[in-house]
Amino acid sequence: MEKARVAMFDSKSYDVDSFQKANKEYGYEISFFKENLNSETAVLCQDHNVVCPFVNDTVDSEVIDILKSKGIKLITLRSAGYNNVDLKAVYKKIHVMHVPQYSPYAVAEHAAALMLALNRKTHRAFYRTRDSNFSIEGLIGFDMRGKTAGVIGTGKIGRVMIDILTGFGMNIVAYDPYADEDYAREKGFKYVEIQELYGKSDIITLHCPLTKGTYHIINSESLSRMKDGVMIVNTGRGQLIDTRALIKALKEKKVSSAGLDVYEEESEYFFEDFSSKVISDDVLARLLTFPNVLVTSHQGFFTREALNNIADTTLQNIKKYFNDEYLDNEICYRCENTECVKKKKGRCF
Ligand code: NAI
Repeated sequence: MEKARVAMFDSKSYDVDSFQKANKEYGYEISFFKENLNSETAVLCQDHNVVCPFVNDTVDSEVIDILKSKGIKLITLRSAGYNNVDLKAVYKKIHVMHVPQYSPYAVAEHAAALMLALNRKTHRAFYRTRDSNFSIEGLIGFDMRGKTAGVIGTGKIGRVMIDILTGFGMNIVAYDPYADEDYAREKGFKYVEIQELYGKSDIITLHCPLTKGTYHIINSESLSRMKDGVMIVNTGRGQLIDTRALIKALKEKKVSSAGLDVYEEESEYFFEDFSSKVISDDVLARLLTFPNVLVTSHQGFFTREALNNIADTTLQNIKKYFNDEYLDNEICYRCENTECVKKKKGRCF
């Protein structure tokens, strides 16, 4: 049987640790490349048959053709989101798998951390007290109990978020094109149309995938429909928000605060140390100047449990592929939104 030789891109020390630990059971050859995957670095996968990208790696048609020419048979993402893969271009060329669930708790808990920090301004209090400034002027927050949270996307992460916010005593309204009314009844929240969610929510939190339909779902028009002083939290994908429109709404005080774990142009910056370099992205630089904007660099997933689950599932994906087993974590452009008949037989092609 062919042995897996894995080229892992955008590898950090924590990826090496978690994969080396999980790989003891499998013994695959894994090359850990620090580089991001793109058309210039794709040649690194020479002599491998599996590529393992992360969220800011580019898997467009140009890269796919290079990977195919180098003999890559499987792309197995270390993420749940797969918006960085051109699924149509890859179909029938290379199988694509992902980690559909590794810890919805990690992401939802991080979103809650952003909300609490922004509300009670702990990110600012930390710096004040370190400077022996014990004034609490300007740090006033609000009781979350009794306020309304709007949850956009009630999949795995959105549901954990609803549990957490319900625990805070918040009223929950949610929007999802595939509403699960039984679940809403059981949990005591209400599905509403998106416009109603915008009009009612004191906090809006994004947990939908990035698709053509959700690109810039938060834009000047949707912002204008929101309550004055709304808080926006995005742990989904950066391109869900038109950042320029958000900056305008922050300047006009329409939006009182924003917690952003993702940013639309994050791929050049996030996961890297730019502390001694110049940031040439003026939009990102402007965002970082607001005292009421908390940017974290895509760390929602970053818990020990999630890293271990990512490594385990990725290596299981590889094993299933080479053992010719049912590829339950396969994704393709056919099965993205519809019931894919071929998938039921085990593989999308
Ligand atoms: P999921 O697939 O379980 O749930 C997504 C939900 O969004 C589904 O219920 C779907 O029906 C809904 N949805 C689809 N289109 C929508 C729309 N137009 N409006 C509202 N809802 C819509 O996915 P999961 O695991 O909950 O993850 C959600 C997203 O979170 C991922 O797609 C990914 O982009 C992001 N994510 C971010 C991480 C981070 O580290 N910050 C880590 C993991 C995921």
